[in-house]
Amino acid sequence: MTDADVTPPIEPRPLGRSGTLASPITLGTSGLGARTAPGDAAEAEAIDLASAMLHGPYALIDTSNEYAGGRSEAVLGAALARDGIAPGRAIVTKVDRDLATGVFDRDRVRRSFEESCQRLGVDRLGILHLHDPYSVSFEEATGPGGAVEGLLELKEEGLVDAIGVAAGRMSLMRRYVATGLFDVVLSHNRYTLVDRSATPLFEEAIERGMGVFNAAPFGGGLLARGSASGATYAYGETTAELRAWVARAEEVCARHGVDLPTAALRFSLRSPLVHTTVVGVSSTARIDELELARTADVPDGLWSDLDALGAAPSTVDD
Ligand SMILES: NC(=O)c1ccc[n+]([C@@H]2O[C@H](COP(=O)([O-])OP(=O)(O)OC[C@H]3O[C@@H](n4cnc5c(N)ncnc54)[C@H](OP(=O)(O)O)[C@@H]3O)[C@@H](O)[C@H]2O)c1
Repeated sequence: MTDADVTPPIEPRPLGRSGTLASPITLGTSGLGARTAPGDAAEAEAIDLASAMLHGPYALIDTSNEYAGGRSEAVLGAALARDGIAPGRAIVTKVDRDLATGVFDRDRVRRSFEESCQRLGVDRLGILHLHDPYSVSFEEATGPGGAVEGLLELKEEGLVDAIGVAAGRMSLMRRYVATGLFDVVLSHNRYTLVDRSATPLFEEAIERGMGVFNAAPFGGGLLARGSASGATYAYGETTAELRAWVARAEEVCARHGVDLPTAALRFSLRSPLVHTTVVGVSSTARIDELELARTADVPDGLWSDLDALGAAPSTVDD
């Protein structure tokens, strides 16, 4: 594929003050490269998918140092080396703790950044997030020699343009955002059809001029596969109450001629609190489906009828 074959990214918009443009959708790669090894057939398939993402309709591709044990970045790096990246597209990655020891300090952040650059075959990055800082306390992460110091150094040295914090737990996320040190924030599973607990976080982030990534609009499965599928929500077991609420939502969607995954995606896309929605894709067919869902006709009445169901009994408690 040559760049001449590729169109500009869809609907680029500023991601807050980060200096980066994002499309309404960002492609998520937490599963990319899993169960592959260098040179095997599964890797070749994964590199093809990665290349399709790097030349796909959307501006950003989300990965992290630890996704698939580093294979997500390695596969993206192999695709970059083989096919390059289309204009206007960029990879966003995240620094992770040392998986063996849990250490997540300034030095680990520098090493994580270097590992990511080496796998991706780059020497600098646009956006770099602090990822799931659960193995250290907030005080350790933000104190002298802590992980946040490492990120700030990388930004000061011009090795990254913007820094973010990407995690779940709201009580912790709000403390990180309140530091005023981050340019972007990524929350997951907490701003969906069945959980709105990220609302205050996103409101504060927008007030501060930050960019907002809303990840996992399908809750990692349930809101794509449906109430009868046995799929999980936020990577944990669902309850009968939650499945029953989703079944009622499916009936409302059907009355409006919309399927559940389309409603789940569009809930996030239509929010003024979200700059870009991060969706996990496992095949090029999923990218095509996303574009269909992004552009499908959705009657306005769907949203008031879904609101009339009342708040869903989310299984997420922080
Ligand atoms: N702490 C963090 O930074 C953090 C945490 C969570 C997520 N993220 C990012 O956000 C991305 C998205 O999260 P996620 O993948 O967990 O959640 P998600 O996007 O809510 O859900 C993805 C799941 O939905 C399924 N799906 C999508 N469309 C479907 C359809 N039309 N029919 C049936 N199933 C469908 C996919 O199945 P298939 O596998 O069959 O395609 C996949 O299992 C991640 O890849 C990652 O980049 C970041």
